[in-house]
Amino acid sequence: MSKLEINDLSFTYTGKRMILKNIQLQIQKGEWVAILGHNGSGKSTLAKCIVGLLEPQSGSVVVDDMVLSHKTAYEIRKKIGIVFQNPDNQFVGVTVRDDIAFGMENLGIPKDQMISSIDFYAEKVGVKEMLDKEPSTLSGGQKQRVAIAGILAMHTDVMVFDEATSMLDPYARNELMQYIQELHQEGMTILMITHDIEEALYADRIVVLKGGEVHLDASKEEALRQTERMTEAGLELPVSLRILNGVTNLDPSWKEYLWASTFDK
Ligand SMILES: Nc1ncnc2c1ncn2[C@@H]1O[C@H](COP(=O)(O)OP(=O)(O)OP(=O)(O)O)[C@@H](O)[C@H]1O
Ligand SMILES: [Mg+2]
Repeated sequence: MSKLEINDLSFTYTGKRMILKNIQLQIQKGEWVAILGHNGSGKSTLAKCIVGLLEPQSGSVVVDDMVLSHKTAYEIRKKIGIVFQNPDNQFVGVTVRDDIAFGMENLGIPKDQMISSIDFYAEKVGVKEMLDKEPSTLSGGQKQRVAIAGILAMHTDVMVFDEATSMLDPYARNELMQYIQELHQEGMTILMITHDIEEALYADRIVVLKGGEVHLDASKEEALRQTERMTEAGLELPVSLRILNGVTNLDPSWKEYLWASTFDK
């Protein structure tokens, strides 16, 4: 299992405007961290720096004491998997089967193991009957599931989901969240990038980005008590807490119930 450290990381696309500013984060093995932030707050840029698709101007990403660089990128890819927001950017193969195999092929996984993994993960995400189809004929949500199967099959220690459930219908999203919970229980480290506060409720810890800076970094319970910090970052609280905060003469037992039900994941 892997530990992830982001040390004083800053990034700019243009050389002028800083998109990430001195990001400092330590993610322990087996933690589930939600990274929340408004559109444009730098979440995807951070994800790309973490997996080595973008190179920061300063600071570093360290995975298990290995500093991310051109030399270590291949080794680090074996440890960190990422699923992006837009599944169209994740397709290369002629069939769905090829696409699920792609990441495993890059890791040099033996053929027989690959075949059984493709079946297993296609089944897990509900695309088994689509394995011989052309990826371009799939819906957005189906493509997203294929991308997820391909990454899960790589057996990385850390998974980064960048708005990965945005294309899924509520049923598929719920199924996926259940499965991610299983993986987390088995020890996988999860970084879930989202602007959906309800999705962040599955996490142990919430990190809020605002204007490329860490605006809040706290346990889920603590973060949700910091109503003002959340609002400042343009985030809404979960429905249950909005009711809790909005109704002044609420019965104490209801208050207790609403607070507890928020965390009932
Ligand atoms: N390739 C690029 N070149 C220049 N600027 C970019 C590029 N990609 C993103 N940006 C800018 O960087 C900032 C952060 O973008 P990023 O995609 O990291 O935000 P985000 O938090 O993931 O937003 P969203 O919630 O919309 O996905 C934005 O202001 C965006 O315009
Ligand atoms: Mg994004």
